[in-house]
Amino acid sequence: MDRKQLIVANWKMHKTPAKAAEDAEAIATALGRLPDHSCVALAPPFPALVPVRERLNHTQLLLAAQNVHSEAEGAFTGEVSAPMLKACGCSLVIVGHSERRALAKESDAMVQAKIKAAFSHEMGVILCIGESESQRNEGLTFKVLDKQVREAVKGLSVTGVNSLVLAYEPVWAIGTGKTASADQVQEVHAFLRKILAECLEKDLAKQTEILYGGSVKPSNIKDLMSMEDVDGALVGGASLDPKTFVSLIRNGF
Ligand code: G3P
Repeated sequence: MDRKQLIVANWKMHKTPAKAAEDAEAIATALGRLPDHSCVALAPPFPALVPVRERLNHTQLLLAAQNVHSEAEGAFTGEVSAPMLKACGCSLVIVGHSERRALAKESDAMVQAKIKAAFSHEMGVILCIGESESQRNEGLTFKVLDKQVREAVKGLSVTGVNSLVLAYEPVWAIGTGKTASADQVQEVHAFLRKILAECLEKDLAKQTEILYGGSVKPSNIKDLMSMEDVDGALVGGASLDPKTFVSLIRNGF
């Protein structure tokens, strides 16, 4: 089975529900039919999930959540569970974003529990991993990534792993305008595929989509996507304006 190409908009904490719905419709209309084996997903903030889903009905665009709690229900004020997200129409959920690892102190163990929760409700997971600037400068990039991937996927069932997408997001490239070079990204993605082959089955590792995130723009997406192990992008800032995001997608696919 060939890997898909996937471009995901992470709108983080931007847009009201009405604005998110309007922008989702504008993106879907401008894109029209996507090329074969290509997918686009939008990850709006929680309050916008249902209004966005309503505008994405009858389009090929997928709905993604930005986070999920590991429990299905209970006394967890402020949290949102996998069955709730599934009921809102999400087919994907972003897990382990560096902003959540840093701001909400999410550990690798928490990330793993969230992945299990998403899989048990038949949602795919976009697992974010990435090194900080100081870790890169200290030569720790591969060690950090190795741990993040192994801890996250340990004990996952093969069925679950079929729905796993990795997103390599070096923390120093997020929202900074500093993009990792296409060669740097390819080197890391090839390493990640090797780790996956060690933790999972070889064939599954070959089938796992690996996205890059960190200052992806319409002007650099083509170079990144031309790399053998880059299957797509997780886009923050450049996904906020529908026109910019549509041109990024057109340049990428
Ligand atoms: O999840 C996307 C991300 O963190 C990258 O953000 O603004 O650098 O594209 P940005």
